[in-house]
Amino acid sequence: MCGIFGYVGQRADVGSMVMRALSMLEYRGYDSWGVAVGQGERIEVEKEIGKIGGATVTLPPSTLGFGHTRWATHGSVTRENAHPHVGPSGRVAIIHNGIVENFRPLRDELRAEGHVFASETDSEVIAHLVDRAVMADPERPLYAVLASVFVRLRGLNAVIVLDQARGELVAAKSTSPLVIGAGRSGFTIASDMTALAAHAERILFLEDEHVVRLTARGVELYDRRTLRPIPPEFGPLTITEGDIGLNGHPHFMSKEMAEQPVVLDRLLAENGPAIKDMARAIERAYGTFLVGCGTASYAALTGSYLFSRIAARHVNFVVGSEFRYHEHFLTPESLVIALSQSGETADVIDAMLAAKRRGARLGALVNAKRSTLDRMVDHRVHLLAGPEQCVLSTKAYTAKVAALLLTAHALAGTYDEGARLVHLAAEGLRGMLTEPWKARVRDVAATIAPAPDLFVIGRGLAYPTAMEAALKIKEVSYIHAEGFAGGELKHGVIALIQPGTPCVVYAPNDETRDDILSGAMELRSRGGYIIGIGPEDDPAFDTHLPTPDVGNAAPLVSALPAQMLGYEVALLRGNDPDKPRNLAKSVTVK
Ligand code: G6P
Repeated sequence: MCGIFGYVGQRADVGSMVMRALSMLEYRGYDSWGVAVGQGERIEVEKEIGKIGGATVTLPPSTLGFGHTRWATHGSVTRENAHPHVGPSGRVAIIHNGIVENFRPLRDELRAEGHVFASETDSEVIAHLVDRAVMADPERPLYAVLASVFVRLRGLNAVIVLDQARGELVAAKSTSPLVIGAGRSGFTIASDMTALAAHAERILFLEDEHVVRLTARGVELYDRRTLRPIPPEFGPLTITEGDIGLNGHPHFMSKEMAEQPVVLDRLLAENGPAIKDMARAIERAYGTFLVGCGTASYAALTGSYLFSRIAARHVNFVVGSEFRYHEHFLTPESLVIALSQSGETADVIDAMLAAKRRGARLGALVNAKRSTLDRMVDHRVHLLAGPEQCVLSTKAYTAKVAALLLTAHALAGTYDEGARLVHLAAEGLRGMLTEPWKARVRDVAATIAPAPDLFVIGRGLAYPTAMEAALKIKEVSYIHAEGFAGGELKHGVIALIQPGTPCVVYAPNDETRDDILSGAMELRSRGGYIIGIGPEDDPAFDTHLPTPDVGNAAPLVSALPAQMLGYEVALLRGNDPDKPRNLAKSVTVK
């Protein structure tokens, strides 16, 4: 959460460069933004509330600067609370991602010394602490100052400090990621690799134990505790500007939905060995847990059904934020597998740290290579979905479910059958990404767009799909949408059905079909408008969105209709599909 980017080098257009980089990081938060550049002896700052959109800055030319795009945690969405925050002397400014959990006692300590705060944020405390230390000993290296301040901050934080007088940026982090880039015209640092693609050829992931100093001459790393220099080891940057463009699509959401068949092809072509290794790890484990947040949690729940159906194996599922209250029976024989697109979701990382403390083995299905999650696990399957920039997760969800389906088949000794199903699903998705199919979705979208509420039901394997479908529709259209197990209808949900209430019914060709169709009839009898999704039409449906019959791979083709419905309704309602209200990608705070 919160996107941060800094630059020092030869280019003098740092203000506009930072703005472009921030617009690529906006999926991390878009409540407000701010940029600071060095100018003579001063730091010039420009901040605004709202999305960056086409905004430009009028900052003076400079070769040193940084910026921040905010997802508000402490302090409302105001200009004052936007970053960067400048210290009282005006010598240093900071940008911050995370939550300083102990900011109140730190602020009290500073107030007792006469410090006055301009914002309600936890972050401003860091600016004051650094400023105080710099003014107390101006000769002390800034990286040493930051190291001494950082150790006082509780929580998962990433901090960059800009010192105009010394022409440098220094940074430190705890869990919350920072990536450093080296390019022809200078050095960059950001919360995400995507922001570095235009500027860097080589990158380095900052470690929690280190503190980094960036000047126009180079990058210096130091041990955060001993301040001993450490040789920086850069690796190649693996994404290009082409990977992160819209490539002709109007939104990242439509681009990423359309990429799903190719993502499945790639998973099949490149991931067999990693998936079989994961299956062996599950085989050896005494108790396996799948953990994820949001969309990833529904992929994980789908996995729990798949392992039961395909491999007759009980694999537990726990939502990331609840794992800490569930960890007590973990042993060194347990295996905890986290599902995450970003590999940075704070609740997932927290769950994995808890599992590690109990000696459990760790696994991940993760999209972002070298992310915090990727680096901490013993077994990994990379999702190979490419950068996902829409806040809503689409292609990473499909990749996670495909990886789980293949792992369940590998565990059952039938990997080739799993591969056949994933291939069938990829072909099916191609058929659904065509104009006639999209036109059908648009018709349904026009019918449901004015509705205040919408319900989705599914049974068995389609139950987690129903919850994912409801999540997708609600987060982008803002229709109140809820997913339920079909059998639970009569236990409460049916009270909410009124004439015209849209009800999405997942009816795959499996053992759940008869029962779910009975449920559809019960909804219809009370006036519900039934949108059936499945291979075959039925009189219970008012309208039907046909999906290919791909057996146990049904979740791979069932999510797309809901993704497309959400997208089309969002457009009809005038919402930005890529940046839904109040949400952010990479939820690096708890
Ligand atoms: C946020 C995003 C969701 C995503 C979830 C988990 O809530 O808005 O789209 O599913 O985080 O993210 P992860 O990166 O761990 O998959």
